[in-house]
Amino acid sequence: MRKKVAILGSTGSIGCNTLQVIEALHPAYEVIALSANSNADLLARQAKQFKPQYVAITGDAHYAALKDELSGFEGQLLSGAESLVDLASLDEVDIVVCAVVGAAGLPAALAAAKAGKTVAIANKEPLVIAGELLTTAARESGAVLLPIDSEHSAVFQAMQAGQPDEVRKIILTASGGPFRNASLDEMNQATIEQALAHPTWEMGPKITIDSATMMNKALEVIEAVWLFGMPVEKIDVLIHPESIVHSMVEFIDGSVIAQLGTPDMKVPIQYALTWPKRVKGIAEGLQLHQLGQLNFEPPDLGRFKALALGFEVAKTSGSAPVVFNAANEAAVAAFLDGHIRFGQIVELIDHCLQIHSVQSHLTLEALLEIDAWARRQVQKQLSQKTTVN
Ligand SMILES: NC(=O)c1ccc[n+]([C@@H]2O[C@H](COP(=O)([O-])OP(=O)(O)OC[C@H]3O[C@@H](n4cnc5c(N)ncnc54)[C@H](OP(=O)(O)O)[C@@H]3O)[C@@H](O)[C@H]2O)c1
Repeated sequence: MRKKVAILGSTGSIGCNTLQVIEALHPAYEVIALSANSNADLLARQAKQFKPQYVAITGDAHYAALKDELSGFEGQLLSGAESLVDLASLDEVDIVVCAVVGAAGLPAALAAAKAGKTVAIANKEPLVIAGELLTTAARESGAVLLPIDSEHSAVFQAMQAGQPDEVRKIILTASGGPFRNASLDEMNQATIEQALAHPTWEMGPKITIDSATMMNKALEVIEAVWLFGMPVEKIDVLIHPESIVHSMVEFIDGSVIAQLGTPDMKVPIQYALTWPKRVKGIAEGLQLHQLGQLNFEPPDLGRFKALALGFEVAKTSGSAPVVFNAANEAAVAAFLDGHIRFGQIVELIDHCLQIHSVQSHLTLEALLEIDAWARRQVQKQLSQKTTVN
């Protein structure tokens, strides 16, 4: 039986890698649905190649272009943000790959979890802001949440060497990004080009900026809390510039189990698609002797304040991660639009956290309101204060 897959965010970095993996695994997987936000051209090309039954574009303004490019298409064309929820709950779909960027992916990820799908999650922001809702929905429906994030895939694989109550520590590795050795001053004034120049991974722009601030690692700490049901006190971060050891689990007997591989997202994507099996992959094998050495160092929480805040936010939980994430999304967009300095991203997040009164046990509606509130606070700061200087 071919596995039937919906890819939400198929035109992004993870989406395109997923399609390459599916192509290489042909004929074991069938693409049933694809989606993009605005890139009608690439979405149409993907639809012509993979012939899904459903194609959705969430940005309404791009629907006409998609329709034009796919004239004669025999499947269904959908538009609007809510179309992702429809794709995520299709009866004929077995696996939903969540590859949208940001909190925008939450309603669809939740719908997939409620519908009892295998949910392969790259889109970490929904887990960060609504971990409780998503894991509860999955428990109730029998859905399986599988990580695509390379660190969480590594932890998931290492966890299979023991029992959850035998875990002493989860150690998430981080490349350290382009500013691993930069001074605070250099980071404050960093240009968009410098911040987008990731040393080891090729990714979409938002996660690349998150890697430069180490906000990405902060989000991953919270993601790990929910995916593995571990308290934040049992989660550590270690800088590993080569991005070869994707993460580790230390067990109570002192054994540390790590997963290694070349920095290629096709490996964790494929594992999420084929789990619990492994099949021959297209990623290059690891030549450890060519690397010579692997390095590790503790993160500098003084320079990477986003990571320090992330640990605090994970401890506070409730609505704090919602504010943390939404303020970051708004601030990163402002940075990429040239409105603020790199150093202002974390200042804006910190400001929003300081003026927020934390609430717990949120409904989806309450959570979305808090998300919108944090984005408004960032806009308010931007209109009142300094922009780029
Ligand atoms: N890239 C990686 O290697 C990597 C690794 C680990 C985890 N992740 C996580 O995976 C997710 C995707 O990252 P990415 O790097 O693949 O991002 P990306 O390249 O920016 O792609 C994002 C995808 O989501 C779509 N999209 C953007 N805004 C949307 C919205 N408001 N509503 C619905 N769809 C929207 C985009 O469509 P358009 O193309 O039309 O804009 C695109 O298909 C992120 O949460 C990231 O943290 C990524």
